[in-house]
Amino acid sequence: MELERIYNEDCLSTMGIMQNDFIDFVITSPPYDDIRNYNGYNFEFENIAKELFRILKEGGVVIWVVGDSTMKGSESGTSFKQALYFKEIGFRLHDTMIYYKNNPMPQTGNRYHQHFEYMFAFSKGTPKTFNPLTEPTKYRGLANMKNRGQAGTLDYEKVERTKEKKVGNVFFYSVGGGISTKDKIAYNHPAIFPEKLVHDQIITWTNKNDIIYDPFLGSGTTAKIAHILNRKWIGSEISKEYANFAEKRLHEHVNINLFSA
Ligand SMILES: C[S@@+](CC[C@H](N)C(=O)[O-])C[C@H]1O[C@@H](n2cnc3c(N)ncnc32)[C@H](O)[C@@H]1O
Repeated sequence: MELERIYNEDCLSTMGIMQNDFIDFVITSPPYDDIRNYNGYNFEFENIAKELFRILKEGGVVIWVVGDSTMKGSESGTSFKQALYFKEIGFRLHDTMIYYKNNPMPQTGNRYHQHFEYMFAFSKGTPKTFNPLTEPTKYRGLANMKNRGQAGTLDYEKVERTKEKKVGNVFFYSVGGGISTKDKIAYNHPAIFPEKLVHDQIITWTNKNDIIYDPFLGSGTTAKIAHILNRKWIGSEISKEYANFAEKRLHEHVNINLFSA
């Protein structure tokens, strides 16, 4: 199995040649219902989920970014069904996180604007790595307590201090042309990840040299960010057209040859 490669094929074929317990981390966004027609390809969700469980190392994590389509007036509920299926086959539903779009496409009709997608974290056992993102918190506190000698008299020195705390599990990103990525070529794909989202999740769940897999690589965002962060990566993309765009995009960052299936 070659690392740092785009496998231009069905992800089931790529996973078919991976040994058990091979991958440290998966981050991906599957084709959602029929919201977009990715050159006419669809995917076998249940088989893919089972293969992801098999190839993932104990303690590995899958980040599955997904939304629902609205059909005949009702949201499909596909994201929930998929999350429950992952649990059924042995994954833990470790965290239901939210990918919040600061600037979504406006929608008409009798619903509020769709601002978010689910970002499920499924784990094989207890996650083996967790490097949480933090943010500063300001608090006024009793930082220093000094006993000045007189029994029962304490002198508190009030100071303002900053301390770090874990961020919440709603992640806010601005999206769209020139914002999700600066790589113009990526916009030939209709549904790219914001690079910052991939960056934040890779930092959280992996360490340097870990192996990251994206079974639906699309424009190559996961591969690019994994490379920049000194992780190893493998990607599958069934569409030749998208795989070619991803290769061109990655060429600036890493020297790769497209694997021809
Ligand atoms: C939501 S997009 C992923 C976009 C990606 N996150 C990015 O940043 O560009 C899903 C991709 O999965 C691909 N795809 C669909 N079925 C597939 C399959 N069975 N195996 C591999 N890729 C598939 C589609 O061609 C599409 O490019």
